[in-house]
Amino acid sequence: MVQTHIYDVVIVGAGGAGMRAAIEAGQRSKTAVLTKLYPTRSHTGAAQGGMCAALANVEEDNWEWHTFDTVKGGDYLVDQDAAEVMCREAIDAVLDLEKMGLPFNRTPEGRIDQRRFGGHTRNHGESAVRRSCFAADRTGHMILQTLYQQCVKHEVEFYNEFYVLDLVMGTNDLGEKAVAGVVSYELATGEIHVFRAKSVVLATGGVGKVYKTTSNAHTLTGDGMGIAYRAGLPLEDMEFFQFHPTGLAGLGILLSEAARGEGGILRNADGERFMERYAPTIKDLAPRDIVARSMANEVREGRGAGPKKDYVLLDLTHLEPAHIDAKLPDITEFARTYLGVEPYTEPVPVYPTAHYAMGGVPTNVETEVLADNETVVRGLFAAGEVACVSVHGSNRLGTNSLLDINVFGKRAGLRAAHYAADESVSLVAMPEDADAGVVSTLEGIRGRESGERVAPLRQAMQETMDANAQVFRTEATLKQCLTDLAGLRERYSRVVVQDKGKRFNTDLLEAVELGFLLELAEVVVVGALARQESRGGHFREDHTARDDVNFMRHTMAYRAVDEDGREAVRLDYKPVVQTRYQPMERKY
Ligand code: FUM
Repeated sequence: MVQTHIYDVVIVGAGGAGMRAAIEAGQRSKTAVLTKLYPTRSHTGAAQGGMCAALANVEEDNWEWHTFDTVKGGDYLVDQDAAEVMCREAIDAVLDLEKMGLPFNRTPEGRIDQRRFGGHTRNHGESAVRRSCFAADRTGHMILQTLYQQCVKHEVEFYNEFYVLDLVMGTNDLGEKAVAGVVSYELATGEIHVFRAKSVVLATGGVGKVYKTTSNAHTLTGDGMGIAYRAGLPLEDMEFFQFHPTGLAGLGILLSEAARGEGGILRNADGERFMERYAPTIKDLAPRDIVARSMANEVREGRGAGPKKDYVLLDLTHLEPAHIDAKLPDITEFARTYLGVEPYTEPVPVYPTAHYAMGGVPTNVETEVLADNETVVRGLFAAGEVACVSVHGSNRLGTNSLLDINVFGKRAGLRAAHYAADESVSLVAMPEDADAGVVSTLEGIRGRESGERVAPLRQAMQETMDANAQVFRTEATLKQCLTDLAGLRERYSRVVVQDKGKRFNTDLLEAVELGFLLELAEVVVVGALARQESRGGHFREDHTARDDVNFMRHTMAYRAVDEDGREAVRLDYKPVVQTRYQPMERKY
């Protein structure tokens, strides 16, 4: 039996962006948050190094330099109006959190302490600047706890372990394309719930599990991007995926860039500080795309460390143990626990790990979702990693992500509440059989008696993505990846689960999540194949230069059907918004 709920605002996802939105919407309208996890287990909790803002309390800084760094860091694919909004509102975003009680590290004078991070500079590149506010190396964890406390205080209603599997749209009273609500699956009971709302905010995070080596949690399966894409909405700039330089070698677990911000140095097998060759001015604190590529290049040219020469080393041994304990307690413990390495005395093996999707559901700066290059879907909003407001362009700067979720999460909550309060529009009609698509997907999988298991399909997808669509790409590797993905999608049509039950059927949900992952992996690769240039996180060995004449534009990928009636990705493009900064050669 389907249960129907009616709210003013429904927020999908309870990470930083979702809860920041909920704090605003919850104070102004009847708001529900639907999350497939418990809120405090959301992936924001894994963010480590900090949240940046030009507070100017340690060294001179200002939001305009921050904007410039963000635009240059994103290799000029950033929409500059959005970056201006984010960097200007960063200061209040940090102060909001401080007022909510977030325990930031402090300077001896009692101000919020700040540390250096990659690509954040003083005066347009003169030198590295301290811009990242932090709580040791567990900043995301502290943000998540703080936001959750505020949600509890404001009596926000949470529906925990509710998987949102469909997005329903229609037409509002003004004849505009508008959201009607979402269809969700309750893990505990297997029941379907339809949520009707005038405003829906997507805040479901990223899609890192398309890769094998990733810093992302098991839950980062791109569901929010997937339901938007299946509902006919475009996905923007999905070919740009960030590889964080310092994943624990062989595991991908994140070792925060804060380690380098606090003075850590990357070395090759010869002990050489190789970043001096690749980024002579800011060295180890160059943006992530440059550091990750440099590391991969060291390994490819035979200067990797270890028995297989397949990683480089993060050296913290010159730092005082007391400094390490105060600023980097968690990540040094990860090195001890997972690799058996003592960072006080031994360098830590590291290699790039898939970390962050720069692309996602396109929005404008008000967080309104776009149905094409300009048409807004009324009542539908998106914020955080699921969204692409394009503040990160082709490469995000470290600590701009915790900032993004706070600035645009807040904006989404305010706008969603505002739209819901507009009496000139009523709830969009929800079809009687709104649950039919979800039920047919679930029962199709559950009812199948034999076929392909989820784990080997997922592993094969992740392996081809790691091998063919990682730091270095070519036409040949991307075509290979597309062929592999097509084969996997065909096999996925026969996916089967062992658990046929209704209660806590994670087997079934993993099968559904794999469907999203396979579709989104294809979008990443099709966009990467078409982009015959190198920019930010997308490096084509067969097109090594940035090509502003042909590719200074955003990719917009739509789900379509080809001439043979097969599902396909259709690409379109959208201009980049430039305000103050003309594209320049990117040197560090
Ligand atoms: O390295 C880190 O602490 C990660 C930060 C980020 O992705 O912004």
